[in-house]
Amino acid sequence: MSLFCPLSASPATAGSGVPSLCPSFPPAPVVERGREKETTLKRILVTGAVGQIGSELTLALRERYGGPAVVASDVKLPSDSNLLHDGPFEFVDCLDPHHITRVMQIHKIDTIFHLAALLSAVAEMRPLQAWQLNVNGVVNMLEAGRQYGCALFFPSSIGAFGPETPKKRTPQVTVQRPTTMYGVTKVVGELLCDDYHRRFEMDARGLRFPGLISYRTEPGGGTTDYAVDIFRQAIAHKQYTCYLRADTRLPMMYMPDAIRAMIELMEAEPARLIHRNAYNLSAVDFTPAELADAIKKHIPEFHVDYAVDPRRQAIADSWPESLDDSAAREEWRWKPRYGLAEMTEDMLRQLRHQG
Ligand SMILES: NC(=O)c1ccc[n+]([C@@H]2O[C@H](COP(=O)([O-])OP(=O)(O)OC[C@H]3O[C@@H](n4cnc5c(N)ncnc54)[C@H](O)[C@@H]3O)[C@@H](O)[C@H]2O)c1
Repeated sequence: MSLFCPLSASPATAGSGVPSLCPSFPPAPVVERGREKETTLKRILVTGAVGQIGSELTLALRERYGGPAVVASDVKLPSDSNLLHDGPFEFVDCLDPHHITRVMQIHKIDTIFHLAALLSAVAEMRPLQAWQLNVNGVVNMLEAGRQYGCALFFPSSIGAFGPETPKKRTPQVTVQRPTTMYGVTKVVGELLCDDYHRRFEMDARGLRFPGLISYRTEPGGGTTDYAVDIFRQAIAHKQYTCYLRADTRLPMMYMPDAIRAMIELMEAEPARLIHRNAYNLSAVDFTPAELADAIKKHIPEFHVDYAVDPRRQAIADSWPESLDDSAAREEWRWKPRYGLAEMTEDMLRQLRHQG
């Protein structure tokens, strides 16, 4: 069931708890956890936990806070049995308020990492479904978070920028006129988080991720997926056909840096956070040709050819080439650890180890 509750709607005064802004959203008891007062995460819900980011974030959070403290949730079961056995797993459709409130109550959640979304390439093929999940899903999670006194993490993207945005070292605050539905939903998500913070002092924080590269889980239909596929194909076939032009420069990040960034931001002292939400995050930028050269240092016979997909190329052409992440560096001391060479070496080692 989908739910969209305009913030202008008159608050329903359901039950004795925090009033719901949405008439169909169940009321919650009054709780004070998770507001700006506290920075320690204790009972965490990860939505979209089976996805590329969620599967790694869940394991990292469980290592840090203990398995029982981190509830993984998704609309599909994980293939990685650790996600099921190292801590609780719940079926939560972010478009169904009853699923959400049930899990909030049972597990006494105080922090939400809301990762469920349709990614850029898929969102362009199914724009209305993307709006449903990427906007209504965020509203539902914000509303649940507000009622239950939770902090919330929201992952935005370089997709929140557009062709009129400065392409090189894109500033933290700049023109945001994306030309994709994915980008539109990410801008709306950023603004909704700001709004919930301004209106309700909800501790909503977020990052603008570049393309993410990981070896554990297949990417979920983004424009930067080539930068994961290329490694698998280099090992398996020593050949890769790339759907982006050889000179398409995009900002990227290795998953261990991305996971660390999410946790560091959510643990950061609130008083230090001036922007608080939608921080530009940068680690490395490269073209497919440069990535191929980095892989050739380890697999000299590796060969790349190009069959450009106009749809994904158009999306990539509308995105920045690199980001200025000085706000993140100054406000919560963000610093990436992996450059192109370190990431390439580790990706190849891990994928070969996986067999
Ligand atoms: N991966 C990247 O390169 C990247 C870059 C920038 C931003 N992001 C953002 O990070 C977040 C996570 O990305 P990802 O790469 O892990 O995505 P993914 O596609 O790999 O995973 C998304 C997960 O959400 C689940 N899901 C789908 N519909 C759902 C619903 N109604 N309720 C609950 N779960 C549902 C899916 O089953 C899937 O497991 C997204 O918001 C994405 O936009 C990702």
